[in-house]
Amino acid sequence: MSQTLPWKTAWVTGASTGIGREIVLQLASAGVKVAASARSPDKLAALGHGILAIPLDVTDAGACRVAADRVEAEIGPIDLVVLGAGTYAPVAIDHLDPQLFAHTMSTNYMGVVNCLAAVAPRMMARGQGQISWIASVAGFMGLPKAAAYGPTKAALINLAECLEPEMKLKGVRISVINPGFVATPLTAQNDFEMPFLMQPDEAARRSIAGLAAGRFEIAYPRRFVAILRALRALPYPIFFRLITRFVLKAR
Ligand SMILES: NC(=O)c1ccc[n+]([C@@H]2O[C@H](COP(=O)([O-])OP(=O)(O)OC[C@H]3O[C@@H](n4cnc5c(N)ncnc54)[C@H](OP(=O)(O)O)[C@@H]3O)[C@@H](O)[C@H]2O)c1
Repeated sequence: MSQTLPWKTAWVTGASTGIGREIVLQLASAGVKVAASARSPDKLAALGHGILAIPLDVTDAGACRVAADRVEAEIGPIDLVVLGAGTYAPVAIDHLDPQLFAHTMSTNYMGVVNCLAAVAPRMMARGQGQISWIASVAGFMGLPKAAAYGPTKAALINLAECLEPEMKLKGVRISVINPGFVATPLTAQNDFEMPFLMQPDEAARRSIAGLAAGRFEIAYPRRFVAILRALRALPYPIFFRLITRFVLKAR
């Protein structure tokens, strides 16, 4: 990345694979001091020299506070936080497992809340900082098989909307990243053709560009996002007819 970025330091969760890993590598190559968190210490260590590996399970609120302390002690006050830790498993309607729903909510939603609670007070006290989380276009609407995942992403979009105006007055910018399909371990399990599939380095590039531009919502790829928004705006009978025809029957 040749662009000069507006941050000296960054903390990224979900950094061991996929989109988070690429965000870490691109920020570091642009000269940002980066701390990287996920549960797999070996994969974090493999990110390379100069990247601070902070193993962390984001479902543990106390561990998130300790991790944030460590990041600031080692690389200095955090300018940018990107919360990407996430999990996905398809839901079969004949096997509704409450534990899967709770695990997905605890990782995707509470994982963000836990890290947010650890970093937002110190940023507000300093009167500056930027916090972003990776939701998904799957949060725009309910989609087949996404009954455990989609609600966590809808909640993350709503969370960002709730916090943005007040936090901005305290000098802290909140934003939300809504990717379409990206080729990562998370989507490798999908047994259907993923429209507008993007590579993780491109997803990271667009995420960082949107963050650097200070956008509240960073959603890509644009054409897929436009189609989904148009679908979402339809009356429910037409929406469900299209979902049944083009999503359910096409799989
Ligand atoms: N790929 C897509 O098409 C797509 C589309 C929209 C949104 N997203 C979102 O983008 C984010 C990154 O996903 P990805 O596609 O890059 O998938 P990925 O490669 O599977 O990355 C998920 C990351 O989250 C970490 N993680 C999972 N549970 C964790 C926990 N409890 N504590 C800490 N870290 C945890 C994983 O590392 P460890 O296993 O080492 O902990 C990994 O680094 C996710 O929030 C995902 O929902 C992805």
